[in-house]
Amino acid sequence: MCLQMPPLVAATISPARRIEGRVRVPGDKSISHRYAMFAALAEGRSVLTNYSPGADCHSTLACLGRLGVEIVAGAAGDVTVLGRGLRQLRSPAAPLDAGNSGTTMRLLAGVLAGHPFASTMIGDESLSRRPMRRVMAPLTEMGAVIDAVDGHPPLTIRGGSLHGISYRPDVPSAQVKSAVLLAGLHAAGTTSVTEPAATRDHTERALTEFGGRATVDGLTVSVTGDQRLAPQTLTVPGDFSSAAFWFVAAASLPGSTVTVDDVGLNPTRTALLDVLRRFGARVDVQVTATHGGEPRGTVTVTGDARRSIEIAPADVPGLIDELPAIAALAAAGGEVVSRGAQELRVKESDRIATLVSGFRALGIDADELPDGFSIHGASRPRGGVANAHGDHRMAMAFAIAALSADGPSTIDGADAVGISYPGFFETLATLVR
Ligand code: S3P
Repeated sequence: MCLQMPPLVAATISPARRIEGRVRVPGDKSISHRYAMFAALAEGRSVLTNYSPGADCHSTLACLGRLGVEIVAGAAGDVTVLGRGLRQLRSPAAPLDAGNSGTTMRLLAGVLAGHPFASTMIGDESLSRRPMRRVMAPLTEMGAVIDAVDGHPPLTIRGGSLHGISYRPDVPSAQVKSAVLLAGLHAAGTTSVTEPAATRDHTERALTEFGGRATVDGLTVSVTGDQRLAPQTLTVPGDFSSAAFWFVAAASLPGSTVTVDDVGLNPTRTALLDVLRRFGARVDVQVTATHGGEPRGTVTVTGDARRSIEIAPADVPGLIDELPAIAALAAAGGEVVSRGAQELRVKESDRIATLVSGFRALGIDADELPDGFSIHGASRPRGGVANAHGDHRMAMAFAIAALSADGPSTIDGADAVGISYPGFFETLATLVR
């Protein structure tokens, strides 16, 4: 029997000549997760403002709540966390639901590995397909006992007395690095991670902000297990990876200008800005402050030429969440080829397959490579119906690509934007001209 699925929430995107405006974007997803976790592990009351309103960061708060952390969500995106201190989380009465959030599951796995109780983490259908051996291997080496289903969630973690290790992950992954460092805060001795390539360093910066110590030496980060964390009042900067969609929209529609204020400008996240310059856009960046360990400021992107660019494998770790947006650069002119990006296949969806099928459905010339994609913009694509496959960044990439089309397009599964950017479509409506 074939079950009838409920219809996916769809968004209609009308063609635009250009976009123009000045906006803010919601609080950074990666930084929100980390501030919440460190606040829970600190001793006392932290206040986090501009905390991400997305469902993923809500999943982190919900899991911390089930682990005995008192959390009060206030008006205007501020969150008060009554931290319990390191090793003081409580055994949860029920499984911890990470929803769609890989960051919640992998980083919390590191924290739970250091606690002397058994806990189970579950996720939605997408998260249940994502690889967890990459965190299970180092955490097991440190002394935790972890069960999974063929390397996939649910994860059952029996933590306790951990010892420090020196770990060299095979894949560049900030989630893996962070899981090991968080476990290292609960371990005897020193724990080091040496990455194959630099990844976002929010964990290292946030740990320092909460009064802890991380020692960085090239690609090696070390922590010791004898630390105490102090509560903080911090403001999360706007999410660069959300702003990326507006930057790309401006760059792909010549004559557009968009300014994003108070956006995070951590150099491990901003490689997109050079990609936009190479593509032919004008990019102006002003760092206005550094707070909470994170630089932030204003970025203006003006669309001009549309050239052909290639994203080399070495550039992928710095662009991992921006690659869907980067594909949309060439929806109607120029070319984008990306290689060495096989990690995209194990994100919220198989982002190479989802991207290429969605772009083709919009009438855009797109090809899958084993480890990437190539997009060849020619003229205005005809538009069509693209399916986001439950993946927030796919829904936003299709919406931006559809602006260049000749006619209206439909994004099926558009509600996925709520994972990182509730209000995305409302902001889009204010920008299109
Ligand atoms: C994240 C790291 C990246 C990124 C994800 C968020 C983080 O994942 O794709 O959206 O907050 O650490 P990987 O570490 O798996 O590359």
